[in-house]
Amino acid sequence: MKLNICLIPGDGIGPEVMVQAVAVLEKTAQVFGFDLATTTALLGGAAIDATGGPLPQATIDACKVSDAVLLGAVGGPKWDNLEKSIRPERGLLGIRKALGLFANLRPATLFEELQHACLLRADIAAQGIDVLIVRELTGGAYFGEPKGEEVRGGERVAFNNMIYAEHEIERIARVGFEAAQRRGKRLCSVDKANVLDVSQLWREVVIRVSRDYPDVELSHMYVDNAAMQLVRAPSQFDVIVTENLFGDILSDEASVITGSIGMLPSASLGASGPGLYEPIHGSAPDIAGKDLANPLATILSVAMMLRHSLNMPEAAQAIENAVKGVLKAGYRTGDIMQDGATRVGCKEMGRLVAERIAK
Ligand code: IPM
Ligand code: MG
Repeated sequence: MKLNICLIPGDGIGPEVMVQAVAVLEKTAQVFGFDLATTTALLGGAAIDATGGPLPQATIDACKVSDAVLLGAVGGPKWDNLEKSIRPERGLLGIRKALGLFANLRPATLFEELQHACLLRADIAAQGIDVLIVRELTGGAYFGEPKGEEVRGGERVAFNNMIYAEHEIERIARVGFEAAQRRGKRLCSVDKANVLDVSQLWREVVIRVSRDYPDVELSHMYVDNAAMQLVRAPSQFDVIVTENLFGDILSDEASVITGSIGMLPSASLGASGPGLYEPIHGSAPDIAGKDLANPLATILSVAMMLRHSLNMPEAAQAIENAVKGVLKAGYRTGDIMQDGATRVGCKEMGRLVAERIAK
């Protein structure tokens, strides 16, 4: 079997964490006996520098013919002053849309070995954090029309449109229910149905879809309350499903309270075609090129890729076990450093994981 993976290193620490993730993937291929073919494509700032735009057509084409896409990170201060339509973020939004990646899975897990890093009170951390945020990724205010800026009554106004069609809500709800079936069988749908029409429709459709998943316990929560509950008692959540903007915000919140945003992977999936896998941290330009970055989120994204796109759960598990083994053995990058641990750089962390990959 040969897997075709499209690699998009991107900007900042993207390229260096990518090198380590690919080394781990290569070792996994050796151990589990599959062949790899990789291509590299440009996105974000790297693409702007090389081609003038953040999302070259060649990148879309390369992704479409691959089995899965692995992304490092995009963006950085160098490109911050560009006009909105050609900023690095546009590349990310564009590739999601071009590949139809409507479902974004963002697990926020508190690793046992990293409890000290948790930002919450010790008694709350002790309850554990293991929540999967399922964020809708190609709709809502991010993409809704009409949008723009115009002059009304002599002053500028600007607007976006949080709009969802029933089929968009239904398909992301199904991803949420199916994820819950594979986990703790509890799904919390987050909306603002007390105020927003779009949220009322969201809630109605989610309730309708829930009839197909009688084994999953469905609850609803307003987004403001959800933001509060995530810091107050995160252990109450199993799977959260929510729309694009709410999911953007809540997934950052859920990840940062674990104290180790450098550890968390994500998957973006469509109805068919390649999925895109990326660490949820950004490009961290301040530490780029210094061998300080934590490659574990990208390495764990490779595990998600093997599980969700390539149907290789054992290989995925082998990577996750190797990461746990390295943490247990006391190795830490700077972002998760603690007293008594051994501090390592990005390259050494990657090597330590790769050498532990076993069947
Ligand atoms: C994310 C990021 C992106 C988003 C930005 C960079 C466009 O914040 O992946 O969460 O808002 O979706
Ligand atoms: Mg975000």
